[in-house]
Amino acid sequence: MSNKSISKSLPFFVDERLDKIYFDTIGQYNTNTHAVIGMSPQKGAVLMQNSDYLSLSEDTYIKSARMEAITGKNKNIAMSGIFLKSESPKSLFEKCFAEYAGMESCILTQSGWSANIGLLQTICAPNTHVYIDTYAHMSLWEGARNAGANIHLFLHNNLPHLRKKIQQYGKGLILVDSVYSTMGTVAPLEAMNEMAKEYNCALVVDESHSLGVFGLNGSGLVDELGLRGEVDFITASLAKSFSYRAGVIFGPQKLEKVLPFYSFPAIFSSTLHTHEIQSLDATLKVIKSADKKRMRLLHYSKKLREGLISIGFKIRSESQIVSLECGDIYNTRRIRDFIEENNVFGCIFCSPAMPKNRNIIRFSVNADMTDQDIELVLDVCKKAFEHPDFYFI
Ligand SMILES: Cc1ncc(COP(=O)(O)O)c(C=O)c1O
Repeated sequence: MSNKSISKSLPFFVDERLDKIYFDTIGQYNTNTHAVIGMSPQKGAVLMQNSDYLSLSEDTYIKSARMEAITGKNKNIAMSGIFLKSESPKSLFEKCFAEYAGMESCILTQSGWSANIGLLQTICAPNTHVYIDTYAHMSLWEGARNAGANIHLFLHNNLPHLRKKIQQYGKGLILVDSVYSTMGTVAPLEAMNEMAKEYNCALVVDESHSLGVFGLNGSGLVDELGLRGEVDFITASLAKSFSYRAGVIFGPQKLEKVLPFYSFPAIFSSTLHTHEIQSLDATLKVIKSADKKRMRLLHYSKKLREGLISIGFKIRSESQIVSLECGDIYNTRRIRDFIEENNVFGCIFCSPAMPKNRNIIRFSVNADMTDQDIELVLDVCKKAFEHPDFYFI
């Protein structure tokens, strides 16, 4: 058998579609690569591309717990979680996790994406009114679409607009992120919770970027704001502070009795392995006692935001996610290339994550950064800001 791959011709309608997508996303810009793909960083570069906010990917306790779990005598279950008993490692961990978040029940999922899809499929009957922040994560939008909801968007963090929409259409679900993954803005959760109560709505908060970062022992922004027992549902990706690949849903007791047997991602996609649960258990222990890291993270995030504002950037962030608004894609790419050539790495966010010509370069601060790192980032951003060929919004 030869190793050569065989070039196969596709039916025309599929071929045409792939060509169109290629043209729309890459070809029309006269390049060979998608805008999000930049240079490979060299040793010593400042990396702010991933969401490992507490820098736990190299944590020795977690790594050895993970090794032990993988090499230990665990029967790994390659099957749907629907068959798991209440004494399974997953169920036992879910109890601890629910306690940590201050919620009645917890359901681990394969990803943050499947958490939002699965939750909305379960709690949102077709034609339920859903009020969703313009900047809410795509998985919330997809979850609402998939559930057949009546979707009403409200302007980002705009309470009067949300109120107006609810008054127009009536009770429903309010979907927000606590910390927004693009601009790093923070939802006014206390006021939203009050509004939800006033109009008999349920509030769903995606805490992907605040779980582990805010709140007592990193238990999240909902908890930090004293909204334990107030917010109806919380979801999160565990691919951020937890530095893993999984997701979670928190809600009232009833949810755990229903969702695992109703949501398609829970039924039709295999569940986490036992060694993954053990690894998450070790991570939770580390996160609970990571106050020093959280303080460093907050300190460096503030330093970066304030430094950029004093250079002249318009920074909307109130968190560890800090973005430069760069306008059109040509300008954004050239700025990204410039800062990467100067050893600073962030991520381009463009369509479909951002509206056309509202592209951003996102920096995610992490707890292991140093004063020198932040100074380098500020120095390079200042040069970009003053560069005659670039503009910022
Ligand atoms: C706010 C938010 N929710 C959900 C997700 C999806 O998480 P995952 O990568 O675990 O599927 C992300 C990831 O980008 C996110 O930022």
